[in-house]
Amino acid sequence: MVAHAPRRASEVTGVVGWWHTPDVDVEEGAVLAEVLRPDAAGIAAAVRILRRGGVVGMPTETVYGLAADALDPAAVTRIFAIKGRPADNPLIVHLRSAQELERVVAATTPLAEALAMSFWPGPLTLVLEVGEDVPAVTTGGLRTVAIRVPDHPVATELLTAVGRPLAAPSANRSGRPSPTTAEHVAADLGDDLEVVLDGGPCPVGVESTVVDARGDEPVVLREGSISREDLRSIVGVRSRATAAHDRTDVQASPGTRYRHYAPTCALEIAASADAASRAAELAASGISVGLVASCPAPEGVRSIARFTDAPDLARQLYAALRDAEDTAVDVLVVEAVPEVGVGRAVMDRLRRAAE
Ligand code: TXA
Ligand code: MG
Repeated sequence: MVAHAPRRASEVTGVVGWWHTPDVDVEEGAVLAEVLRPDAAGIAAAVRILRRGGVVGMPTETVYGLAADALDPAAVTRIFAIKGRPADNPLIVHLRSAQELERVVAATTPLAEALAMSFWPGPLTLVLEVGEDVPAVTTGGLRTVAIRVPDHPVATELLTAVGRPLAAPSANRSGRPSPTTAEHVAADLGDDLEVVLDGGPCPVGVESTVVDARGDEPVVLREGSISREDLRSIVGVRSRATAAHDRTDVQASPGTRYRHYAPTCALEIAASADAASRAAELAASGISVGLVASCPAPEGVRSIARFTDAPDLARQLYAALRDAEDTAVDVLVVEAVPEVGVGRAVMDRLRRAAE
């Protein structure tokens, strides 16, 4: 790999192969994000930044995160500043393994242990009573903390090397789709971030499922890639779990109070059988139309993404929304997927974006 001089993120147009070899020390206050290959030198550079209270872009299996030491209030404050995130919207704390749970919670529950055993490492975030070492800025002043153990080799390596829990929201600028490549992170936050570790495209593509695990039954606070069916397969066998585990308690999830991402173009969700014809109909009226569907785009319609099933759409969704904005289509038509498994989270994100 050829070492490139770091470039302004805004000059980078989604080309791959622009890793910067970190042979020079990354300087504090640098304003140009360097996308680093996640080899030993890249991990070491990220660790140095994290140890002095800085923020780095970190790949996870769901989306890229904007990571800082979860136990350092000044470092966590930087995350909020970079993202432009309201102070009362708490962050997820990422751990290397479930064994580190005691470090960040006041008390665990049999439910949390069962869920952690089944789904960690993986895209499930558990909300539990917060431990005293976690600063209030991390939890937005709540008495609870959201925790997950990511299932991505680069995140695991970074968490192991730094030896600290890492707070990380999705690494998009507020108002943009979550990033699923290092290039997305650099495009949104490149001016405010020193380093992004490049772990390639995220294999899941939508954010983790957030579950309140303080009681006997899981309460889903945010739909995600661990589905209700997945949860039910574990807690359904627990004697005290009841059908109430299907309850959605949106009030308890601070993030849902804020305006969700909406693309700059109009977004229309179409039933599977109608997507192509609806796109063609709109294009015939003289406007520019993009299509995300399982079928090819009809003549006069720009194909933004083509998917095979709901997990495939999940992987491509956020990149497709960015592409639709970049190509300045007037309307993006997206084919609906069945609301089972990760399809429910995909449809949840699509409906919010279409609002
Ligand atoms: O997949 C993911 O979850 C990604 C990757 C980077 O791990 N992270 C992510 O973080 O999506 P963020 O900050 O974009 O979304 C976290 C969500 C927000 O809706 C927030 O309000 C909720 O989790 N949350 C965090 N702490 C909470 C708590 N103590 N109680 C309830 N909800 C909480
Ligand atoms: Mg987010």
